[in-house]
Amino acid sequence: MTLIPHSQHMSPRPIPLPCQNHDLGKFEILSRDGAARIGRLHTNHGVLNTPMLLPVVNPNIRTIEPREMWEEYGIEGLITNSYIIWKHQKLKEVALSDGVHNLLDFPGIIVTDSGTFQSYVYGDVEVGVSEIVEFQRDIGVDIGTMLDVFGRPDMSFSELESAVEETANRASESLEVAGDNLLLNGPIQGGINDDLRARSGYLMSSIRGKYHNFTVHPIGGIVPLMEKQMYRELFQILLASKSTIPPNRPIHLFGCGHPLLFPLSIALGVDIFDSAAYVLFARDDRFFTPTGTVKLKEIREWPISSRALFGLSPEEVRKMDKNERTSILSRHNLEITQAELAKCREAIRTGKIWQLAEERSHCSPQLRGAFLWVLDQLAFPDEGPIGESIMNIIASTNPVRKGGERMSHDIELRPHILHLQALIATRWKIPGSWWDGSKSTIKNLIIIEKTPPPWRTCSLNAIISHLIETPNSIPLILTPLGIIPYSLEDLSPWCHLDGSNDMWDIDYDDEEIMEFLSDLNLEKIPFIRIKPELKILKMSKIEENVRDWMDRCSIVDKLSVLCSINPNDGCKLTTSMSNRKSTTDRMVNVYSDGTHILSPRLNDGGISFTLEGVKRLCDNRYPISFDTIDSDSEFSGLPKVCINDDAIPFVGKGRNVMHGYILGADKHLIPGQPCLIVSSSGDLIAHGTPIATSKEMELFQKGIAIKVREGVLKDSS
Ligand code: GUN
Repeated sequence: MTLIPHSQHMSPRPIPLPCQNHDLGKFEILSRDGAARIGRLHTNHGVLNTPMLLPVVNPNIRTIEPREMWEEYGIEGLITNSYIIWKHQKLKEVALSDGVHNLLDFPGIIVTDSGTFQSYVYGDVEVGVSEIVEFQRDIGVDIGTMLDVFGRPDMSFSELESAVEETANRASESLEVAGDNLLLNGPIQGGINDDLRARSGYLMSSIRGKYHNFTVHPIGGIVPLMEKQMYRELFQILLASKSTIPPNRPIHLFGCGHPLLFPLSIALGVDIFDSAAYVLFARDDRFFTPTGTVKLKEIREWPISSRALFGLSPEEVRKMDKNERTSILSRHNLEITQAELAKCREAIRTGKIWQLAEERSHCSPQLRGAFLWVLDQLAFPDEGPIGESIMNIIASTNPVRKGGERMSHDIELRPHILHLQALIATRWKIPGSWWDGSKSTIKNLIIIEKTPPPWRTCSLNAIISHLIETPNSIPLILTPLGIIPYSLEDLSPWCHLDGSNDMWDIDYDDEEIMEFLSDLNLEKIPFIRIKPELKILKMSKIEENVRDWMDRCSIVDKLSVLCSINPNDGCKLTTSMSNRKSTTDRMVNVYSDGTHILSPRLNDGGISFTLEGVKRLCDNRYPISFDTIDSDSEFSGLPKVCINDDAIPFVGKGRNVMHGYILGADKHLIPGQPCLIVSSSGDLIAHGTPIATSKEMELFQKGIAIKVREGVLKDSS
């Protein structure tokens, strides 16, 4: 059988169109899982879909032709070195006369570096700060790089500080020379010093250019660390730098390209990678797998398949001449790189990027060490730049998500779980009254243990019997992730924990239980522990009354935990509540005085409001003010976003809220959880689900900020 080359059975990829002038350099987010985001960067040679890798192309040695990268591997952008082109007379002449896209024969996005790396390797470069930017501009580069000062990890504090300051001093001149068509990278330096990295991030992102500000912030000075597999330091640098870089600027890890590092880097907010590793490793007879690098000489069979290796045995590749072998292994490495990035993007879309980062962490001891260090930062955020980035990651992560949550040793520190636990710890409150209408103080806790979900089928009867006996009790569930109120029993991830049945059979002693209870401020209350049997009987009238109270508690608690609605307001909203249940006995619609106000979502346990529901929660405050508290310890109400007047006719009819039309947003807004959309006079315009944080709403200029569920205006279109 002869294999048909890819290019012969596929039509050539269309040449990308330049973006609209006003979109040049704008970055938008389509989907996210905390700091990990699927983004689009708009350029003169099309859109860079992120997270992505820019393969390094040496204009003198093209192991894989850029045209082939474009046609065969779906590469949207590559990086080459403008200093190398500038130094070689022949390349320089062609680049200046025909443009860099013709020089490389690549129709997509061309990013260039400036010679800083050469100055790190060889000690100096001959080109000036303005000269190299001018050259990148004149050869038609899409995203160039200013000449930054490389901060080596072994430099003293004052040397690193000078590198940071000198880089920042060169920034304005570089942005001015770049003009209005060349976008620029503003590299972040500072060695392994958190404060210097944060300062560099601050300086470089605050500089206002005459035409554009910096479009992308690469994290520089990390190659020596990666060469020594010092991954903990790499992620420390990333987090410290990110603490001061605005979220609307994509982050590029300069020189990082091993697929093993992608998932954790992306989970921590990296958008762009670049590397020559695909060809450097190939020259060294090594090839990538998503779980590590393999030496060709050590194998009899391929541990992974690819288009490049298909039909060949390792022995056959070993026997090839050096060039052919390098060419095949480079192609394989590029394929694996692309596949792993696609896997990461898919993991962002499905809310599983942390799970993937955790899986990959087991593939290298150095990466595992770095991963555990990151988990430590998540468990105990410090007061410095790293703690700041960690808090941003947790706060920007949607706490609930559909689908199973795979159990593992590290599961408790996944940001969405930490976020939900923090919300419960601060926002869940003991009910103000009990099912029999009494308001006495709480008497005891009923803890369901050793029971897997769904708890409503196996525990309901037992709980109701206990509540009839002692109305002033709270039912709770002991899960492998701690204790939760029974009212949140169908909230993901607890009800979707995916693991062996043994995880439900752990013996905890009373002291451990009290420690779990202290998270909910319940440690002083007496408790009983029960392991209920499956028992579904027809309910008596009194049992139905208890069940109704439990249903109401579930709604009030979800409103307070997920939507920051004061339990008193939640109680008011649900005073005369009734509900419709599914065939599996779950609440699907909730009514107040016969009006449908909200629906508990069956797939993740969250809340979807109706317009009537949010109308009852909109306090119509004018003049509109936004909460500025950072703490989640108060109930600030359903978060609101104020849009400008131009957007009202569209959003009011149900169109999404776009960035650029937002006047302000409450800080306690959580991506993925409901929000109100109001006018500047406080009138309700719509409600929806934000995909951005309040800070992002302030900064982004392109893309969807809120997916609108319903507007208040009639749509006549
Ligand atoms: N390539 C790898 N590291 C660096 C860096 O720190 N600066 C620049 N400009 N390029 C790099």
